[in-house]
Parts: sequence; C-alpha cells; structure tokens
Amino acid sequence: MLRLRELTCGYGRSAVVHGIDLDVGVDEVVAVMGHNGAGKTTLLRAVVGLIPAMGRGTIEFADAAGNWTDVTGRPANRRVRSGMAYVPQGQQCFAHLTCAENLRLVADGRKRGKALIDEQLDLFPALRGLLTRQAGLLSGGQRQQLAIARALIGEPRLLILDEPTEGIQPTVVAEIESTIVALAARGGLSVLLVEQHLGFALQAASRYYVLRSGRIASEGETGTGAEARVREAMAI
Ligand SMILES: Nc1ncnc2c1ncn2[C@@H]1O[C@H](COP(=O)(O)OP(=O)(O)OP(=O)(O)O)[C@@H](O)[C@H]1O
Ligand SMILES: [Mg+2]
Repeated sequence: MLRLRELTCGYGRSAVVHGIDLDVGVDEVVAVMGHNGAGKTTLLRAVVGLIPAMGRGTIEFADAAGNWTDVTGRPANRRVRSGMAYVPQGQQCFAHLTCAENLRLVADGRKRGKALIDEQLDLFPALRGLLTRQAGLLSGGQRQQLAIARALIGEPRLLILDEPTEGIQPTVVAEIESTIVALAARGGLSVLLVEQHLGFALQAASRYYVLRSGRIASEGETGTGAEARVREAMAI
C-alpha cells in the first residue's frame, strides 16, 4: 500500500528524518512511536506531500489494483485523490463551522455524500447529537472524532493519523481506539498511526516502528515482547 525507501525530509535545508524505510501493507495498521521531536509529524507530512522529500528517497503508493506508483514528486491534492487521508495532530477542524458543515465540506459533491456522513455517524455515534454545534465548542475528544470522521468521508485507502489520542481523556481514548481497530478489521483501509500511547499503539497495530532523532531505532511485529523492545528503543 505504502512503501518508503531511504526517505529523508525536513525543513529548508536541514533534514529531520534521515533515510527511512517503512512499509504499510493492505489492510494493515502500522504504528510509529517516538519521543517529542523525534520527527514523527515531519515523516507524515512528507508522506502526504506537505513537505518535499530530500535527496534520493522515494514514496510509493499502490492503487486499488495493487499497482505501485512513485508519488514522491506529486502534490498533496493528487495523493489525497489517489486514496490518502491525513488527520493532523491537534484535533483540527473548522472551528466556526458546525459539525455537520465540517462533514459536508468533504461530502458535498461526492456521489454517496449523504450515505457517507451517515456511515461515519454510525461509527462515531457521539457526533449525532452534536451536528448543529460549532466545532470550536466541542471537547478535544469530540473534535478528534469529527476530524477522523471527516477524513473517512473521502473514502481513503490509507488513513494517516497523527497522535489521535493526544490530550484526550482515557474513556474517549478507548472509544477512538476501538473505532480504529474496528475500521481496520472491516477491511479496505490501511492505517499509518503516529502515537505516543504505547498501549494503544501496540494494541491497534500489527507492526511498529520507533523513531529516534529521525532514524528508526526499532521495528517489528507487535505482540509478545514488543512493548519491552519499544521501551528499550525509546529508553523509557
Ligand atoms: N515547520 C518547521 N520548521 C522547522 N523545524 C521544524 C518545523 N516543524 C518541526 N520542526 C522541527 O523538526 C523536529 C521534529 O519535529 P516533529 O514535529 O516532526 O516531531 P514529532 O516527533 O512529531 O514530535 P511531537 O511528539 O512533539 O509531535 C523538531 O526538532 C522540530 O523542532
Ligand atoms: Mg508530532
């Protein structure tokens, strides 16, 4: 689905992420962990095309039939059109628009727009009672659910989530976790998940990468022994 090879990226001339190889398979959930400043968000921005790759690194993305395309030089809008959706860190929504308007922004103009909104409301039932409320007035957890729902209306094949549980109370973290796990189990969607909550990340993902100072310090399958390896790589 997604294949990064020797990907280097950063800001201006200074690289933050150095020569990363990373794969996300079809219907797979992959977690990227690491301390603050490790380069997790920078990596995601390069994947979705908000910052360019540097040097000879490549980003390849497979279409629904499994044919790979090198998207390294493609603008973000084309990557989104080909099936990526990005939910940035910080529960970002259009604060002055209502929940419904936030969802309609993506749904309008899509053939199944109304049905797609309904599907997301089934997935995040808490949003049903909040449709007429301004997004800026929602709690962090509600806004995060709205941001994920909005991304899903675009019917992505790869959902890219940057710390969906950051700053959110534990009960809502559990809700978001079970929704992501359920989504992935349903099939048709791969997830690249940046997450600092190790418990959540290792539960939701089948494979993980630990970033340290922009390099991969550890990678492997989740499951027995993974948490200890991750903790060691993160020196916690
Ligand atoms: N727009 C920017 N311009 C210049 N440097 C940046 C920019 N954004 C981030 N950086 C730097 O890049 C490095 C990695 O930042 P990044 O946001 O990718 O880390 P992160 O792993 O996502 O951290 P966090 O867990 O705090 O979100 C940091 O040293 C940061 O200061
Ligand atoms: Mg970040």
